[in-house]
Amino acid sequence: MPRFDDQTVLVTGGTGGQGSSHVRAFHAEGANVVIGAIDAERGAALADELGTRARFTHLDVTDESSWSAAVLAAESTFGALHVLVNNAGVQNPPAPIEKTDQATWSRILDVNLTGTFLGIKVTAPALRRAAGGAIVNIASTMGLGGTAHYAPYVASKWAVRGLTHTAALELGRDHIRVNTIHPGVIATPFIQEPAAGATAAIADFYSPEPFAIPRLGEPADVTRLLLFLASSDASFITGSEYVIDGGLLLGPALQAETG
Ligand SMILES: NC(=O)c1ccc[n+]([C@@H]2O[C@H](COP(=O)([O-])OP(=O)(O)OC[C@H]3O[C@@H](n4cnc5c(N)ncnc54)[C@H](O)[C@@H]3O)[C@@H](O)[C@H]2O)c1
Repeated sequence: MPRFDDQTVLVTGGTGGQGSSHVRAFHAEGANVVIGAIDAERGAALADELGTRARFTHLDVTDESSWSAAVLAAESTFGALHVLVNNAGVQNPPAPIEKTDQATWSRILDVNLTGTFLGIKVTAPALRRAAGGAIVNIASTMGLGGTAHYAPYVASKWAVRGLTHTAALELGRDHIRVNTIHPGVIATPFIQEPAAGATAAIADFYSPEPFAIPRLGEPADVTRLLLFLASSDASFITGSEYVIDGGLLLGPALQAETG
């Protein structure tokens, strides 16, 4: 039975590698979907492809008025908003801290952290009007440790964790749950960017061969966890953090051959 009948879900970065997977899956499970994105052409095309119960809205997550317009779009089209997925994200070009300019630092923090903050701030009243709901923030395994040459990204994703915990405390009594997902390396355009100290793509930098599960993650892997956290199956889960990385954080499962 579809888990999201009569519910409306807003996904930011809804045209991206993971975002579009999330949008399609929520829609397939009965939800009305609002595709929040900065890429109007792809957003409109995805909404057209899905047909009924889908609409695109221009949403730059760094802009509070853009958030207000997205909430209005959700409520005026579908009557209420029940789920927010703070998925939009950007990664800095790799560089050591000493060579990271302030504009780069600010841009990454603006999208990944301020964008998530604004999303919680502006949608919370709508979720309250809907008598409760769920917010899922997409952070990263990079938000659980340090990664050389990715200071802005790492710092932004660490901060999303504190924001999640705080929002869970503030919104729990209003039946709004707030959780975080930490994906490892997921096969999307995101990982085609050059990796630290090299021209190789991040996918090569984090070659999955030594992982306990030796493959890259697929967007659908994250989507399945996301749908669980957004659903009533997770009604007692808030302020929690879920790692989905095929064992990357465990360290190498395979030792280098010796002798
Ligand atoms: N792919 C990975 O390996 C990986 C790993 C860990 C975490 N993540 C996180 O997963 C999320 C989704 O990334 P993805 O892998 O689908 O990458 P992606 O590049 O395919 O998608 C990112 C999306 O964010 C959108 N975006 C960027 N700036 C925006 C803004 N100001 N307003 C609204 N949208 C904006 C982009 O247009 C794009 O659609 C991101 O938060 C990313 O940090 C990705």
